[in-house]
Amino acid sequence: MFLSFLKTPFLIGSIAPSSSFLSKKMIHPSILSNDMAIELGAGSGAVTKHLVNSFKEVISYEISKELSDLIVENFNTVDVRNEDACRCSEILSKDRSNACTVFSSLPFTLMDKSKVIGLLEDISSSMKSGEIFVCFFYMPNIFLPWNQWVLREIKSNFTVLDYSLVFLNLPPALVLVCMK
Ligand SMILES: C[S@@+](CC[C@H](N)C(=O)[O-])C[C@H]1O[C@@H](n2cnc3c(N)ncnc32)[C@H](O)[C@@H]1O
Repeated sequence: MFLSFLKTPFLIGSIAPSSSFLSKKMIHPSILSNDMAIELGAGSGAVTKHLVNSFKEVISYEISKELSDLIVENFNTVDVRNEDACRCSEILSKDRSNACTVFSSLPFTLMDKSKVIGLLEDISSSMKSGEIFVCFFYMPNIFLPWNQWVLREIKSNFTVLDYSLVFLNLPPALVLVCMK
């Protein structure tokens, strides 16, 4: 992932894969009974590895061809989509009987603001009431005044149920567990 970061730093958004401390914090106790996980920004699979152990079905979006090939190679049960995570609302808005949790590792603060606003609105409007959206942000970046719009958008689309600060990650991260 470090090499991918050197090639496209604003797309990858991180120098190292998430630690297992961060990945485990993302799988909050309130979501363990759910059937399906949609992962946005799978990278080299640090979070994917934990999702496959907790969910019956995992669909992972990863825009980098190189990284999505790696997920295909390492996780044969995962439905890997080498496309923009914006397309996840197509799956969420289908007529489905199974509960779904959305896990985002996307670098929202580095992405185009209007794209992030549209993506959060699409995800929220296509999720069912009570479903969970989990995301993380790097610290201290997320607390900078010019990044506050991201937290405002999350709060305007979801109810924040819980948060954790994970210091055993490079960089340390803020995990938000939100409900539609
Ligand atoms: C911060 S990395 C996280 C990787 C991994 N989930 C982890 O936690 O180690 C963000 C990932 O999101 C991917 N990404 C960025 N924008 C994307 C988009 N619009 N659609 C899908 N994936 C995207 C990047 O290629 C990168 O692999």
